[in-house]
Amino acid sequence: LNNGLAKTPQMGWNSWNFFACNINEAVIKETADALISTGLAKLGYTYVNIDDCWSASKRNSKGDLVPDPKSFPSGIKALADYIHDKGLKLGIYSDAGVFTCQVRPGSLHYENGDAELFASWGVDYLKYDNCYNLGIKPEKRYPPMREALNATGRTIFYSLCEWGVDDPALWAGKVGNSWRTTDDINDTWASMTTIADLNDKWASYAGPGGWNDPDMLEVGNGGMTHQEYRAHFSIWALMKAPLLIGCDVRNMTAETMKILSNGEVIAVNQDPLGIQGRKVFVEGAGNCSQVWAGPLSGNRVVVALWNRCQQAAIITAKWETLGLHQTTSVSVRDLWEHEDVLGNVDTTFGVEVDSHDCKLYVFTPTNTLHVQM
Ligand code: DGJ
Repeated sequence: LNNGLAKTPQMGWNSWNFFACNINEAVIKETADALISTGLAKLGYTYVNIDDCWSASKRNSKGDLVPDPKSFPSGIKALADYIHDKGLKLGIYSDAGVFTCQVRPGSLHYENGDAELFASWGVDYLKYDNCYNLGIKPEKRYPPMREALNATGRTIFYSLCEWGVDDPALWAGKVGNSWRTTDDINDTWASMTTIADLNDKWASYAGPGGWNDPDMLEVGNGGMTHQEYRAHFSIWALMKAPLLIGCDVRNMTAETMKILSNGEVIAVNQDPLGIQGRKVFVEGAGNCSQVWAGPLSGNRVVVALWNRCQQAAIITAKWETLGLHQTTSVSVRDLWEHEDVLGNVDTTFGVEVDSHDCKLYVFTPTNTLHVQM
């Protein structure tokens, strides 16, 4: 969507994956505080996004949405002010149906008034869900909110949450700044890997202004191992997915923080070229040894060696699968070890990768500049 936003994928935090409906204004404020105190905000995580359950179960007599008086007694405007004072941005949630998924009022047929209200509160981001949609196609239900947001005169990030229904990559580029390509993620290896593969299919449709959204991060929520979370974060970064933290940032372990705060991996995600990396090579039982790669600015290439097998494996990236010319030599930077691999490398690069782990590298050509992806 050409509204000046999403030149690179959005970064921030969203309440749903960890808190679900257990949210209130203290949690949101403390999360904003924690994004600052941990340094995550400085690394680019600036959207603080409230998901479902912020609103009361009925509109008021004027027909306006009202924040739940028990959990958000000070209202959303006060919260937006608090968040803006910290240099952060506030996101809110509604639904392109008659109810949200947790049965709060939806915005279908209330688009203009609700957009006005969000803008008057100082909201910077809208996640727009897909429940109770009366069977109307998403192609019909999502554009009215784009028009309504545009008419407010406030610049508001528009995140489509239509769960991949009706192949949004094919139509949502003009409607939103990102669109979900799949059903909800959950905090398991099976869910994360399935979603990565589904999202990969739409790689060619992503770019500055509009991104494929394979759903929010589960890093730090406890259902996967450190290696699996590292793989999750590596692949989401490489796929130019939104990096929306989904854990409780007020109580992160050092291990979780180490993943989420890896500035070199974040830089891959935020690369100005904005090309979604893809799965470029598979081998082994069930195609479990995988190479994912994509071009970066400055003729560099990001390369992930992802071991989805049950045991350690040597995974090798071959130049032809990376779009590198056979005569190109590269220097290799390991983004998790934060070190340069010694010497120039040409034609292939292979290392042993632990089961369910993912190595992530940036290759920088040191002689000819033949990158052809
Ligand atoms: C479905 C969405 O896909 C989730 O991300 C979350 O927003 C829930 N609805 C909230 O009810």
